[in-house]
Amino acid sequence: MREQLENTRIEALEFIAAADSEERLQEIRVRLFGKKGVLTQLMKQLGTLPPAERPRAGGLAHETRAALERAWDDKNRALQAEALTARLRQETVDVTLPGTPLPAGHRHPLNTVVTDIENIFLGMGFSIAEGPEIETDYYNFEALNLPPDHPARDMQDSFYITEEFLLRSQTSPVQIRTMENMCPRLPVKIIAPGKVYRNDDDATHSPMFHQVEGLLVDKGARMSDLKGVLLRFIREMFGPEREIRMRPSFFPFTEPSAEIDVSCMFCGGGGCRLCKGTGWIEILGSGMVHPRVLTMGGYDPGAVTGFAFGVGVERVAMLKYGIDDMRLLFDNDIRFLCQF
Ligand code: DAH
Repeated sequence: MREQLENTRIEALEFIAAADSEERLQEIRVRLFGKKGVLTQLMKQLGTLPPAERPRAGGLAHETRAALERAWDDKNRALQAEALTARLRQETVDVTLPGTPLPAGHRHPLNTVVTDIENIFLGMGFSIAEGPEIETDYYNFEALNLPPDHPARDMQDSFYITEEFLLRSQTSPVQIRTMENMCPRLPVKIIAPGKVYRNDDDATHSPMFHQVEGLLVDKGARMSDLKGVLLRFIREMFGPEREIRMRPSFFPFTEPSAEIDVSCMFCGGGGCRLCKGTGWIEILGSGMVHPRVLTMGGYDPGAVTGFAFGVGVERVAMLKYGIDDMRLLFDNDIRFLCQF
């Protein structure tokens, strides 16, 4: 038994040393330690020895097995390391290859339009002002010369939080806040982009939408200045061929008030479905700041004049990109957003 174990040990160590591949080494493993492996068989024979010899033979058998397992493991590790080194030598990385492009997001079309509008007015010397979305009844209506019985103050149109506070229904309150902050400095020359809220919900109305307010107060500001500023805005936004026209209108905070139409960007003014055959599309409200509103802002309507306008951002985006349902702008469907 001892001789057999010794011979097996010597022979097996030679085989392990000579194994030149992981497959060969696996074969050796089966032949030694497998169910019918040499060592396994020898271990089984231990039971047939006379009881007195068993402990010594058993000890030797376990020692042999442990020594062979160690040798096998070492060889296995060595072969694996060799294989890895060989693979790494062969594999090369071309660091000049272009990387895998990561899909990058981009601005929401509404943000693009707001930024475009801001840039156009910054280019004309306007600054950007902001006001709170939770507004007081005073700034949202009263200071803008909206009498208490005006339909826009109806509880059904505006989202009131308390009797005093509401979600602003327009960006016009920023006119008053800005004048209060700036008075008596001149000129006041700002735009105020932001969210506004109304109880409306259909293909062309959303309970939350965006406006950009404009206000210029200075000595001698005239309606022709308003028209020039808006013509420039419209042409930069919709192309140099666009014309505008002013239609008499009414807003409580401007006098006179004018609705601005732009020559239809879809048919060029000839008349089509989108401009309902008129050649003109309504785009924004404007006017000369009402004397009472100037007074509310702290300015003397006898000394200064002003003009103001308010434009709907969703409407501009829909006209610019040919979108026919406002809800698409808020659904956040990536198949839609990817097109801009
Ligand atoms: N605040 C008006 C609205 O929502 C829009 C507007 C019209 C703003 C005329 C103005 C203006 O500043 O002069 O509906």
